[in-house]
Amino acid sequence: MLRTHTCGELRIADINKTVTLCGWVQKTRLMGGLTFIDLRDRYGITQLMISDSVSDKEGYARECVLKVTGIVIERESKNKNLETGDIEIKLQHIEVLNTSITPPFTIEDETDGGDELRMKYRYLDLRRNVVRKNLELRHRLAIETRNYLDKQQFIEVETPVLIKSTPEGARDFVVPSRMNAGQFYALPQSPQTFKQLLMVSGFDRYYQIVKCFRDEDLRADRQPEFTQIDCEMSFIEQEDILQTFEGLTKHLFKVVKGIDIPKIPRMTYANAMKYYGNDKPDIRFEMKLVDLKATTSGKNFKVFDDAETVIAICAKGAADYTRKQLDELTEWVKRPQIGATGLVYARVNTDGTLKSSVDKFYNEDDLKNWAQVCEAQKGDLILVLAGSEDKIRKAASELRLEMGNRLGLRDKTKFSCLWVVDFPLLEWNEGDPNLLASLAGRWHAKHHPFTSPKPEDIELLKTNPGNVRANAYDLVINGVEIGGGSIRIHNKELQAQMFKILGFDTEEAQKQFGFLMNAFEYGAPPHGGIAFGFDRLCSLFGGADSIRDFIAFPKNNSGRDVMIDAPSEISLEQLNELAIKTTI
Ligand code: AMO
Repeated sequence: MLRTHTCGELRIADINKTVTLCGWVQKTRLMGGLTFIDLRDRYGITQLMISDSVSDKEGYARECVLKVTGIVIERESKNKNLETGDIEIKLQHIEVLNTSITPPFTIEDETDGGDELRMKYRYLDLRRNVVRKNLELRHRLAIETRNYLDKQQFIEVETPVLIKSTPEGARDFVVPSRMNAGQFYALPQSPQTFKQLLMVSGFDRYYQIVKCFRDEDLRADRQPEFTQIDCEMSFIEQEDILQTFEGLTKHLFKVVKGIDIPKIPRMTYANAMKYYGNDKPDIRFEMKLVDLKATTSGKNFKVFDDAETVIAICAKGAADYTRKQLDELTEWVKRPQIGATGLVYARVNTDGTLKSSVDKFYNEDDLKNWAQVCEAQKGDLILVLAGSEDKIRKAASELRLEMGNRLGLRDKTKFSCLWVVDFPLLEWNEGDPNLLASLAGRWHAKHHPFTSPKPEDIELLKTNPGNVRANAYDLVINGVEIGGGSIRIHNKELQAQMFKILGFDTEEAQKQFGFLMNAFEYGAPPHGGIAFGFDRLCSLFGGADSIRDFIAFPKNNSGRDVMIDAPSEISLEQLNELAIKTTI
């Protein structure tokens, strides 16, 4: 080892020891005849003291790499913000292991570097405490996940990355095959079919912390390549999966954050949509959606009378919202991303009087009815949206979250977990931009095509497929979909029926999924599983909104790695070898 200690290690108890440290120069200060250097490594910062002013300035410039030897002494003025702040090293020897040019941004917690610049020089960004801590948290979560699953007899099996493209789910990333001209592999959107095959093989309890790839629109919680904690179990029912992975969630919160998670409540998909307008409700706060249609109709207010749906939320303690705040909120709901045409409000004043923005149509008794239905108390503010069902329920859900933010109800240090169960098996694809255009105008598997319908709903597959519920579940924490899974179809006929509903004829289904259906003929056990979005789990534990800072080398919102400049063009020679026709 070049060093005897790390830069985060030395304390008062080490005084008078001769030590050797290695690290990067964080800062150099000249004071009187003395030079002070803050030396940094992964573990912390230690102050170095040199009695003669340094002449070789270049050697001690920011981010140079030093190896120093000296004696640990007690500091005259201690730094309470540093763990090593009681001591410093009186240097005897200093060796410059490498010099550095000036970095494009400061390597500090509060850096002067913008997003794009930090991504371009991600290896320098990773030197910053805050980013490094995120990766340390990721490591801890991975280790503890493995510990828990190992104790539960799960075994980690690697599945291939070059697989077969399937027209279901999101779009695939594809890889041309040189040895099979004109043919392509696809990168897995998840190891779904392989983990099911492992169940046919008798592996019983599988897991893998695994990279998945999806060519879809990117957002703060979506990357084109991301990691799942992917799991599958045999000889189980839905209840077993919920218990096992509730156990994993509790274990991770306990050992990584020291938090005891109470029993995780469950909510049906139907109730989540009814009360929260959303299949991943943030239940850190109430503010449920209330149907106000019956209460408001018949009073000649055309906007409400003509609307398919009238939905209210009750913002506790917000009756003192000013006119200006309410106007601003009205503009907020009218933004295209929210899509409401306007916002009606009613204040339940602290003196018990009620006042609304539609007083012309609704008298105080009417408003009292509103307040009763919304369970509004003195001091509360009722906000009402009206319009078409799907649009307004979604807008009300967004407004609820926004009010939750504004009223400080979404504390990042509090965690509310929820199982959402009984998802619909199918949804009608009107033309989802994340799917191939050829899949529009047909049923689409809400989870994936291997999910089993609830046995009591199987009959409906023939008559009313849209009403069939699935044995599918999501784990939602603080309004984020952390995991999703289902009990699978393990019967060849039912799987064939499912493919048919999804619009694959027998030949096409055989071509795409024959390997799985054939495997089901060799004694497939009843099985099911779940996958957690590992990056999302990390950012939730880290109290952040974006998963990017928990991925060592992430892509930007256009799917680019700006550091290595990928994707990039390849040479004509490579294209020819791959038999790819091009107009270049
Ligand atoms: P699903 O598609 O629900 O299920 O994915 C599981 C979890 O993965 C996370 N996730 C993502 N995270 C970051 N970026 C993305 N682009 C992204 N897409 C998904 C989410 C999600 O809950 N094979 C099934 C699982 C199963 O049925 O066992 C599957 O992949 O947190």
